[in-house]
Amino acid sequence: MTTLKKVKLLLLFFTFTFSCLVFSDQQTFSISPYLLKKTHDQVHLKFQTKGEDSFINSLDNKEVVATEDDVTSIPLKKQKCGEPQSMTLLNTSKKSLFKVDLPPYPCDPETPIKFAFISDTQKYPDEHNKMALLLFNRVKNNPPNFILNGGDIVQDGSVESKWQNFLKASLPYSTSIPIVPVLGNHDYWGHTGEENTPELFKKYLMTEKDHSDGYYTLDYPQFKLVVLNSNFPKLGEENIKRQKVWLEKELEKSKQKDQIVIITFHHSPITSNLFYYGPVSIAMRKSWIPLFEKSGVVKLVLNGHSHLYERSLKNGIMYVVAGPFGGQKNNFPKLKNYYRLSMHPETYTYSLFNVSKKMIQMETFDENDNLIDNFSITNNI
Ligand SMILES: [Fe+2]
Repeated sequence: MTTLKKVKLLLLFFTFTFSCLVFSDQQTFSISPYLLKKTHDQVHLKFQTKGEDSFINSLDNKEVVATEDDVTSIPLKKQKCGEPQSMTLLNTSKKSLFKVDLPPYPCDPETPIKFAFISDTQKYPDEHNKMALLLFNRVKNNPPNFILNGGDIVQDGSVESKWQNFLKASLPYSTSIPIVPVLGNHDYWGHTGEENTPELFKKYLMTEKDHSDGYYTLDYPQFKLVVLNSNFPKLGEENIKRQKVWLEKELEKSKQKDQIVIITFHHSPITSNLFYYGPVSIAMRKSWIPLFEKSGVVKLVLNGHSHLYERSLKNGIMYVVAGPFGGQKNNFPKLKNYYRLSMHPETYTYSLFNVSKKMIQMETFDENDNLIDNFSITNNI
């Protein structure tokens, strides 16, 4: 057989396989499979089907029954450091429908782990999708462990189609890189229930094991990521107090083992946006940042909400506020921020972090995929 014939046959094979996968995907799922994580060592696969259907999880050969009325959530096995994990979702005829390949994360605290940071995907799913493709293209050969979304994931958290459009737009990355979500104020729109987390966020971006108050940690050998719920006007005094006590304990635990901490929440406390004067930002500056500073282990704070990329350094803590990633661009007048090291107000952005016990490196890219900011710091704790 000539080389040309071999290439043609190979092309035919790939086209056929791809068409089958796409075909089965369209036949089976109303919401395509996507990945979510809320702890450092466990990824959850979520999807919704067009009718009642059964699947096999290749990790334990267990059958999973899915209905068209709800999102199906399959927790993968806990992943140990240094070990990759693969899982295939099969139909009952043992045909592969979806494959998850999770690369290992390093056990050595001094070997960096990588994650991406975006925020405010919010209003325009098409723009989110364009940025998602840019981000994925850059990281596909060396993917981050997760993509942190700093909140305002959708424009109106009470509208089901907004979440579905968000999930569709995120597919370039969410099929292979887990989302780590933060709750933003828009995600609470229309929320009137008793619970502290909005119903549709719970449906699409929570797992059955999650703390219902919307805060949690990812505890890697290299660092601890603390995800706070800064939607104080929706939470009530008791909850806010409880969250603060929990945070103090988490910071103390990290201090005991000389572990650096990265904190993320939606409302940016240090920003040139007028939101600087919002009640949550004021509360954060008044009674939360002093805790971060006192702990000595918090090195980095990641926020959204401002729709304005900015990086500031105050009392040894770096504050990075993401630009939007599909949300409206900021056109408010800018305030003076004496701690500011960098600002890019008129672009979507995404940032890539490499973090080890000893250092934090960051690169931020704009909507033309140009590098617009970077830093590298050494952690002394
Ligand atoms: Fe916001």
